[in-house]
Amino acid sequence: MPDLVAPVVPGGRLRDQSQPELFIDELILRPWRSADVPDVVRAYQDPAIQRWHVRTMSDHEAEEWVATWPQRWAAESGAGWAVCDDEGLLARMSLRALDLAEGMGEVAYWVLPEARGRGVAPRALLAMSTWLFVHVGLHRIELAHSTLNTGSCRVATKAGYVLEGTKRQQALHRDGWHDMHLHARVQGDADDTAPGGRLTIVQRDESAPLGTMAAADLGHPPEGVVILPEPSADTGHLDPRAWVETVRRPTVRRLRQRVADNLAQARELGEV
Ligand SMILES: CC(C)(COP(=O)(O)OP(=O)(O)OC[C@H]1O[C@@H](n2cnc3c(N)ncnc32)[C@H](O)[C@@H]1OP(=O)(O)O)[C@@H](O)C(=O)NCCC(=O)NCCS
Repeated sequence: MPDLVAPVVPGGRLRDQSQPELFIDELILRPWRSADVPDVVRAYQDPAIQRWHVRTMSDHEAEEWVATWPQRWAAESGAGWAVCDDEGLLARMSLRALDLAEGMGEVAYWVLPEARGRGVAPRALLAMSTWLFVHVGLHRIELAHSTLNTGSCRVATKAGYVLEGTKRQQALHRDGWHDMHLHARVQGDADDTAPGGRLTIVQRDESAPLGTMAAADLGHPPEGVVILPEPSADTGHLDPRAWVETVRRPTVRRLRQRVADNLAQARELGEV
């Protein structure tokens, strides 16, 4: 029997492109690498991550976990980003469930203990969500956390995930059943493409022309560059002047360097 509605997102939208890197403030969301395995093992040794994710991870399991994300991208059943700054890994931001036909996803995240309390999770979540709504075309993304996990509730609120209700005794933890808050963002909750914002997300597409990021520097965002609206008091961590100094300039510097590196590499390979 044929479906009466078309798929919300056609199959292939993820697997037909390489996984992008997303930049927000000083944070980079990039695909996982095998070199991340020791930090992933360390993350799952943290009591809070064990408590809320209800698992530990051996070296071998962490290798499998890291390797699973490209497979899930190819299968369009999930997506995982390592959240880093110049010093290294800070956090995990993932779509633990994804159904393109239904236009739905569900997020999961943790932050390494030493990186907590500086808005890493809400900003990474905002970046990933914006990319998923604007570029992939998801309609709804859900987020669930134990009602006892107040830190996670703050993350959801700061990233614009509206509290929709409480699912009673939905998740079994080591100390018994937990009620879970259900938060969600739906397409159109915020105007993700409004120009003139302070946060910039760059989708680095390996197949895009070399000039893509240079164009972003010039203030003419090409295809693949999303400018978020002005953050609300709740999501904004910096005042505008501080933002220019600490976010915009270093980001532009980093992008310029990457464009120069790419160009040098292409010249070496005789591509230009
Ligand atoms: C919950 C978690 C993801 C928050 O990430 P984060 O990047 O620290 O997020 P924020 O900096 O926005 O802080 C969120 C809240 O955590 C609390 N918090 C602040 N500093 C903290 C610290 N050093 N350690 C723990 N929690 C802290 C505060 O309640 C804060 O809310 P506030 O900004 O209104 O004060 C992170 O603490 C974590 O990974 N916890 C363990 C695993 C987990 O809970 N995963 C989510 C499962 S649903």
